[in-house]
Amino acid sequence: MSSYNRQSKIPNLKSKIGSGSAPGKVILCGEHAVVYGQPALAVPVNGVQARVTVQTSEQPGLTVHSLNLDRLPVDEQGRINERLHAVAARVADLIGILCVSDQQPEPNGGLLITLDSNIPIERGLGSGAAIGVAMIRAFAAYFALDLSDAQVSAMAYETEKLHHGTPSGIDNTVVAYNQPVYFVREQPIELLQVRSPLHLLIADSGTRGSTADIVAGVRQRREADPSRYDALFDQIGAVARMAKGAIEVGDISNLGLLFNHNQQLLEQIGVSSPALQRLCAATVGAGAWGAKLSGAGQGGNMIALVTPPTEAAVGEALRAAGAVNVIATTVAPTKGGHS
Ligand code: MEV
Repeated sequence: MSSYNRQSKIPNLKSKIGSGSAPGKVILCGEHAVVYGQPALAVPVNGVQARVTVQTSEQPGLTVHSLNLDRLPVDEQGRINERLHAVAARVADLIGILCVSDQQPEPNGGLLITLDSNIPIERGLGSGAAIGVAMIRAFAAYFALDLSDAQVSAMAYETEKLHHGTPSGIDNTVVAYNQPVYFVREQPIELLQVRSPLHLLIADSGTRGSTADIVAGVRQRREADPSRYDALFDQIGAVARMAKGAIEVGDISNLGLLFNHNQQLLEQIGVSSPALQRLCAATVGAGAWGAKLSGAGQGGNMIALVTPPTEAAVGEALRAAGAVNVIATTVAPTKGGHS
C-alpha cells in the first residue's frame, strides 16, 4: 500500500464506503482504424471484472491499495502503481467538480481506494478503462452522486488519456455502458443489435503490449505513408460496417470471414505478432468460424468465433498453440434476437 499526498477537492468526509465495478471488453472489429474515425465494434466481457471500494481514511490525501499488484513482475509494479495513483487523482478531481457542497477537505482525513481486478493488464481486455469506470462508480457511490452511463464514460475517457494520449473512446464507452456497441469517434453511441448469440474464445498470447506505444507506432508508420495507411483504415472500416450487418442478421459464418479479413489488415498495419498469428491459424484449423487479434495487438489477446460444438476443440487447439489463458464468453442476443 502506498499513499499519494495531494490537495484535491475532496468534499467533507464521512465514515462510509462506496463501491463500483466494471467488466473487461474485447473489440470484435475495427481497432486502430477507429482512432482515425472509422467504425469499430466492441462487447463487454463480464467474466473478468475490476472492483473498487472508496472509504474514509485517517491518512490525508488519497491512499491507493491494489490487491493484485503482486501478481505482476516486480519491475512492473512501480509503473502500474504510479498509474493507479494518477487515475485515482484524476477521478477525485473530476468527482470534486461535481460535488457542489462541502468542498473543503477535512484537515486530517483522506480516502482509501482499494482495487481488486482480475482483468489482465495490457492484454487488450480493457483493464485501464475498467479500472477508471469502477473507480468513478465507487467515488460516485461514496459521495452519493447519481451518474448516467454517459457521464461515467466521459469521465473515464479523461482517465484513458493518462494511459495513452489519443484514445478513440471505444474502451470507456463499451465498459461504461456494459453493452455491445457500434462506435464511431465523436458520434453519439449506437448500441449493437445482436440477433444470435456470439460464442467467443479469448486467448492470451502470453506477451504484453503497451497500447500507447503500439498506437504511437501506427501513427508514425501512417505519417511515413499516409495513402497506404488511410486505404487500410478504410478497408478496416468497411469490414466493421459489414460485421455490424452480419451481427444484426445473425450471419455467424460471414462474421467469421470478416474476422479473418480484419486480421489480415491488422497484420498489414504492423500490429500482429507471430504468436497471435499462430493462435489464429490454430483456431481456424480446429473449426472456428474465424479469428483475429483484439485490442492494440503486438501481443495480448486474440478472439475466435466458435459454436458450442466446436468450442472444446478450438480451446484445446489454442492451448496447444501456446495460449497461456483461454476465456469463453457469450454475447447474448439483444431484444428481438433469438438465443
Ligand atoms: C484499444 O483497445 C483499441 C485501439 O483502437 C486504441 C483506441 O481505440 O483508442 C488500439
